[in-house]
Amino acid sequence: MNNPVSSRSATARLIDGKAIAREVKAEVRTIVDRMVAQGRRPPGLAVVMVGDNPASAVYVRNKRLACTECGIHSVAIDMPQSTSEVELLVRIDALNTDESIDGILVQLPLPEHIRQTEVVERIDPRKDVDGFHPYNIGRLAERNPLIRPCTPYGVVRMLDHIGVSVKGRHCVIVGASNIVGRPMSLELLLVGATTTVTHRFTTDLEHRVRDAEILVAAAGKPGLIKGEWIRPGAVVVDVGINRLDSGKLCGDVEFAEAVKRAAWISPVPGGVGPMTVAMLMQNTLEAALRR
Ligand code: GUN
Repeated sequence: MNNPVSSRSATARLIDGKAIAREVKAEVRTIVDRMVAQGRRPPGLAVVMVGDNPASAVYVRNKRLACTECGIHSVAIDMPQSTSEVELLVRIDALNTDESIDGILVQLPLPEHIRQTEVVERIDPRKDVDGFHPYNIGRLAERNPLIRPCTPYGVVRMLDHIGVSVKGRHCVIVGASNIVGRPMSLELLLVGATTTVTHRFTTDLEHRVRDAEILVAAAGKPGLIKGEWIRPGAVVVDVGINRLDSGKLCGDVEFAEAVKRAAWISPVPGGVGPMTVAMLMQNTLEAALRR
């Protein structure tokens, strides 16, 4: 399945992120068990949450559960909404020097009175398992990645798993966020794709999407991408996780229509979401092994 465009079928094959994530976590577990059997301490991950954003609480719970599955020592740090920026920075300083901690994750978004840049830049880049520190983004940009942002890293792993080669292909990324769109473009460049990044000022989104051999939708807008825009035989990776008023989760792509045109498509839920968490586990293990 190296040529997405020539692999057209009436119904797309599903990219089962849940199953691929299970495989990644099992690999992490095996290596962690080996470390522990050799008398080393397990990797340690501090997951910091400030405030009680309900969506963040769900993500943080999933990350902590994944640590348990992988044998990673998880330290839960829950701070109130009223936490000051200085209090949070002091906490990060302590985690930076804590010998039992290999990875530090501060769940975003932060309350408005805390500057995200100050916080992200305070984390020791060697413990920045989100891969958001400018040092790690810079390493990815110069084709020498150290710690890689989990969601884009997970998308690349999914494409690799289904045997889709992106070298020389036209990949279109919808959304230019720091967390997904921008590092996604760097990951795809790294593996030789020709990349287009669309964003809120893009005037001809439909035309750009129609031209995509591989589409990564990361705008966070339910149904933004119409199914009929999907190029026949394209590979569609939907990073959007949007909760509708009905409580149902959906992606950025109109799934029911897109599935009739794409060769491969990732569902929401059960697509990219579990991969983000699995790659966080892998990043934590790698950070521990480097120390
Ligand atoms: N908020 C939404 N996605 C993420 C993520 O991958 N990491 C962190 N720290 N916060 C997020």
